Amino acid sequence: MFIKQIWGVLESDRRLIVLSIFCGLLFTGLGILPPLLVREMLLWLQPGSQPGSFTMLALLAASIYVARGAMRYCYGLASHIAAYNTLHRLTNRVYAHLQTMSPSYLNRRHSGNLVARSIGDVDAIEDFIAHGIPETVLAMVIPTTMSVVLLIINWQLALVALLPLPLLAIVMYILRKRTRNYWGHVRKQFATVSALMSDFLNGIKVIQTFQAYKVTAARLQFQSKDYRDKIVHANKWSLVPAGVVEVFSGAGIVCVICAGSWMVTVGSHTQLQVSIPDLVVFLMYLGQIFLPFLRLATMTDHIQKAAASAARVFELLEAKADIVDAADARVPVDPCYDITFDNVEFSYQEGESVLAGTTFSIAENEIVALVGETGVGKSTACQLLVRFHDVTQGAVRVGGVDVRELPLDYLRRQIAMVPQEMFLFEGSIRENLLIGKEDATEAELLEAIKQADAIEFVESFVDGLDTIVGERGVRLSGGQKQRVGIARALLKDAPILVLDEATSAVDVETEAAIRQAIQRAATGRTVLIVAHRLATIKTASRIVVLDKGKVVEQGTFAELVEKQGVFCRIYQV
Ligand SMILES: Nc1ncnc2c1ncn2[C@@H]1O[C@H](COP(=O)(O)OP(=O)(O)O)[C@@H](O)[C@H]1O
Ligand SMILES: [Mg+2]
Repeated sequence: MFIKQIWGVLESDRRLIVLSIFCGLLFTGLGILPPLLVREMLLWLQPGSQPGSFTMLALLAASIYVARGAMRYCYGLASHIAAYNTLHRLTNRVYAHLQTMSPSYLNRRHSGNLVARSIGDVDAIEDFIAHGIPETVLAMVIPTTMSVVLLIINWQLALVALLPLPLLAIVMYILRKRTRNYWGHVRKQFATVSALMSDFLNGIKVIQTFQAYKVTAARLQFQSKDYRDKIVHANKWSLVPAGVVEVFSGAGIVCVICAGSWMVTVGSHTQLQVSIPDLVVFLMYLGQIFLPFLRLATMTDHIQKAAASAARVFELLEAKADIVDAADARVPVDPCYDITFDNVEFSYQEGESVLAGTTFSIAENEIVALVGETGVGKSTACQLLVRFHDVTQGAVRVGGVDVRELPLDYLRRQIAMVPQEMFLFEGSIRENLLIGKEDATEAELLEAIKQADAIEFVESFVDGLDTIVGERGVRLSGGQKQRVGIARALLKDAPILVLDEATSAVDVETEAAIRQAIQRAATGRTVLIVAHRLATIKTASRIVVLDKGKVVEQGTFAELVEKQGVFCRIYQV
């Protein structure tokens, strides 16, 4: 099953694997020869024999070892190149696939878990391809060929000497069955530990200010201890074969000592004879013949780790994206950019509805403010518009078309969003802005940061636009980050602009400046604003008030003030 999957991802590198196995076989085949050369030498040394050229023998032995060295290098190199090609391909494929998954799918799986999965597991697969495939083949070939040669030289002694071999095979098989599931548990637990660690490191400031070190350390310790226990348990079994092989290879030697010495002395009077040179070949082979089993045993670990990893990587790759283009999705011929929430129902968890029949609309080129208490579902509404989630009932429409019937690509191109949780990538301010528009000119970048009232602080940095913002933008203040985010959205120059508490972290003065920018940007755009400050809300031509999943009021600021309803209660006006 998993061999088939791995063979599948090998793609064009299958030839390299075949080459690697071929070189490996040559390497093994050449290993058969030296003991035979030694045998030849011993035969020549026997009294009454006609010795050949010892120099030739030495030269032959030397060239065999040179060739063997070359073959060993080639088989290792070929398998590693194939493995790293696959690692590269799988890493990119996993990332590409994760891109198609909705944020809610990714949230359900812990992000640290996903990282461990996509990197750690792909690594284990690489390891299997580089070592597992060629070495498994060799481990099966070496004992077979050596046994054949021994049987040819002296089949009676060979039968005795090889007696432990099938026994060893059976013991190894039983042990292998025993450890089969252990590595799966180990990898799963490793993912848990690394996820926890990365979560704690992300929240290091919280941990330090609340002095929560003890609590978090205890949680980490608990999981890490479990990981240690699992891996020790797995090792308890997976290290057994090494000992067993040692014992069995000893048994082979013991058999040859007993049977060989009997055959040389007593047996020489009967049909059962063996010459000293043949006996030497036996002893030399027996030193090597059991070793592949040891490798096969460590390989079993590799194989099990790889199988566990492959299962998880392929499960990930085969997970169906939950938010996809409808079969009949098409780009509208005459696009409009008005937005309608038509009786929208949505819940994250069954039974806990967030939006329960939300209905409102935004005309083209209108600015509408969505307000309501925290947790009422404003951000959720914004996210339904870009299809981070799909509604459970009703519909969200853009230009009269259900967003589920528009190509996802097209839909998202029409919307520039400043999310509530601003995210900047590690890199420069410029790189973060260019995400809004890949080919933006310097002038466009400057215009955008001017509009977002970010020009002053950007210019105050020595490196200006090339200032590095740090991981998640940690080197900027909350307000600065938000302004870079707004500039990024303005650069995108999309017909629909969504601002989800985009100015919550900036001061009143800055907000006023951004407000003007938004008003300017609003010409020719449909704008949805979620905001808390009254001044910003007032920029909107209409205010929609959400309460308990429904729109309870809407109208201009003056109208709502007159009504003295929910809006006035929230804002105490
Ligand atoms: N990813 C999520 N999974 C489960 N529940 C969520 C998620 N995001 C938000 N919620 C819940 O949905 C409700 C609305 O959240 P949200 O739309 O963020 O509110 P608002 O933006 O109005 O403050 C809240 O009760 C919140 O607990
Ligand atoms: Mg919100």
